[in-house]
Amino acid sequence: MPNELCSIVGPSGCGKSSLLYLLGLLDRVDEGEIWIHGKELAAASDTARTEARNHYLGFIFQFHFLLPEFTALENVMMPMKKTGRLGVAEMESKAHDLLMEMGLGDKSRRLTTQLSGGEQQRVAVARALANDPDVILADEPTGNLDIKNSNQVFDLMQKVAEERGQAVLMVTHNLDLAERAHRIYRMQDGEFLRS
Ligand SMILES: Nc1ncnc2c1ncn2[C@@H]1O[C@H](COP(=O)(O)OP(=O)(O)OP(=O)(O)O)[C@@H](O)[C@H]1O
Ligand SMILES: [Mg+2]
Repeated sequence: MPNELCSIVGPSGCGKSSLLYLLGLLDRVDEGEIWIHGKELAAASDTARTEARNHYLGFIFQFHFLLPEFTALENVMMPMKKTGRLGVAEMESKAHDLLMEMGLGDKSRRLTTQLSGGEQQRVAVARALANDPDVILADEPTGNLDIKNSNQVFDLMQKVAEERGQAVLMVTHNLDLAERAHRIYRMQDGEFLRS
């Protein structure tokens, strides 16, 4: 839902990551449909799925997957380059604004290897926002962080949902954070439990 941060919880192996990979058009479903902006994409071509993924979806994973040989700013610009909607100056300025929003304005020119784990994950949040996606899919985004940094990343994701109007779907094993979401979905054996 727009404006909502929803959490998904459930035992290891119940299918949380699989669900996000399917929703994120990173894996193919065996059956069922996935509709994004009026288009059915479960059975669509790879090109159509990649385009939808780049335009409408943002991803945050447990491991930040930032490119170490690039600066924070350059990492945030990567998804923008893929869609090719903005010129270089606009991309830079937008990436800088996003990093400011994440409290990293003064570190945007640093290589990502010169940032702390919490800072790296905040760069990953900024990168997920680069193309103003409708939905952000986050798989254990705080799984590698201590309590302080986990709270900080969670607060930022909540702010993203509330202030930017995006829908954030977050898988987590951290029940304290899960309970703070606007909505909580519980999974078991590949299915949602009725709440
Ligand atoms: N690429 C794959 N091919 C086949 N089976 C897979 C694949 N990835 C995961 N599985 C299986 O699918 C089931 C669900 O896995 P999934 O990774 O979605 O669990 P999860 O809920 O994210 O668990 P965790 O909390 O440990 O991350 C597991 O039984 C797993 O072994
Ligand atoms: Mg998982």
